[in-house]
Amino acid sequence: MGEKIRIPSDIIFDEEIVGEINSNPALKQIVSFAKEFFIPIWHNKNEKIDGINQILPWIVFGENPVIITRQKRENSHLTPEEFLSNFLEINEEKIDFGNIGMLSLSKEVRYFSDELVSSLLKSFYSGNWILGPEVKELEKATCEKIGAKYSVGVNSGTDALVIGLRAIALSRFNKEFFSKEEDEIIVPDLTFLATAEAVILSGATPVIANVDEKTYTISPESIEESITKKTRGIVVVHLYGLPADMDAILDIAKRHNLFVVEDCAQSFYSKFNGKYTGTIGDVGCFSFFPSKNLGGHGDGGVIATNDQKIYEYASILGKHGSKIRDYAEYIGMNSRLDTIQASLLLKKLDKIEFFTERRRKIAEIYNREINHPDIILPYEPPKRFHVYHQYTIRLKRKKADELRDFLSRNNIETRVYYPYPMHKVPSIARNSKVYDNLYTEEITKQILSLPIEPLHPDALIKHISRKITEFMR
Ligand SMILES: Cc1ncc(COP(=O)(O)O)c(C=O)c1O
Repeated sequence: MGEKIRIPSDIIFDEEIVGEINSNPALKQIVSFAKEFFIPIWHNKNEKIDGINQILPWIVFGENPVIITRQKRENSHLTPEEFLSNFLEINEEKIDFGNIGMLSLSKEVRYFSDELVSSLLKSFYSGNWILGPEVKELEKATCEKIGAKYSVGVNSGTDALVIGLRAIALSRFNKEFFSKEEDEIIVPDLTFLATAEAVILSGATPVIANVDEKTYTISPESIEESITKKTRGIVVVHLYGLPADMDAILDIAKRHNLFVVEDCAQSFYSKFNGKYTGTIGDVGCFSFFPSKNLGGHGDGGVIATNDQKIYEYASILGKHGSKIRDYAEYIGMNSRLDTIQASLLLKKLDKIEFFTERRRKIAEIYNREINHPDIILPYEPPKRFHVYHQYTIRLKRKKADELRDFLSRNNIETRVYYPYPMHKVPSIARNSKVYDNLYTEEITKQILSLPIEPLHPDALIKHISRKITEFMR
């Protein structure tokens, strides 16, 4: 069987059919067409294929998988479960892995295109493109999924943070914006810069705290050390999908009368002590950026809260600060979740259990297969349910760079989340309070995130793990 199976192109067939394809010019042409357009082919292993005539009626072309089978199927499209199950018994040596990316968003589109497109068309034809009924539906569905009382759809995760913070400023402190001189808000040094940026945009001064060496989430000890009489609140980030230490953080917040905002941009569906992140502090801020573990097809975000006053302010701040049209009480902004995004996200939300389980399964494979004393694997402490938005390993400084180069030479993409700690990002550092005890920069030199696309088959994850082992030898 000269030909190897290419996983990224999703073409699936077993040895038997490879032989048949090579000896059958018509089939060969179909397969090369499918390859060119990255159309997956599915072959029912238990069915013997013995001629093009039996096959043709059941081949489906288009954006959806090409299916080769003798048995006509009710639904001609592959589900992701079916797609993955086809790889279970494939021998790694027979696979040509091609270029392995961190994510493959087009794969998701392909597998859910029927549902996504029908939802999209419905909202498209409705003409209700701004604040159509799907936005309310998504807000309701989000509340139900994570157990929040209220939620508000907004334009992005960044806006969710800005609006969430400003809603607290209004409801708790009776201020339209925080004050740069009077109000400090503690943020972690390791995060996407939008966390600290949002604090600055809400008017306050970020105070940068260290992260825990094992979980990479904000360190409760560092929070305590950063508190002054100006401290108003904490923004915790459930980085990589792992909840921060919410027991310790809520305890500190209670003792010092601070609010807690949860940056859940990477943690949809993660849990601390059985409670979903985003419902534990005062406000939860989610991003639907396409690469997030609940990703849309453009920008989007949602704010969750159990506090009615915060909800009321958050509802109007993204609509120019007005309850009554053309009569604004507060300085607001234009930050609404598009109806079309909401309609697509409703479909994605339905699949969150599948995607979460799949991410956890991939993490389990990495945990098992990457086995080297010099590699620190992600840590999931008791009580915390990790959703593995990222699977991030840690090695000694130079080794991390070398491994990254080695994997890149082997067509495996990796990323560093994040290469600069907040206190080294000029726009953030200039507007923040930075103490001289920060050690996060060293962590940023040692971390490496591996591909964790839920639709990457197990064999591909094992292959990446083996390449890592090969390098470490
Ligand atoms: C931790 C964190 N906070 C905030 C954001 C901002 O979200 P968005 O890109 O939707 O504005 C992101 C994602 O990019 C993020 O990862």
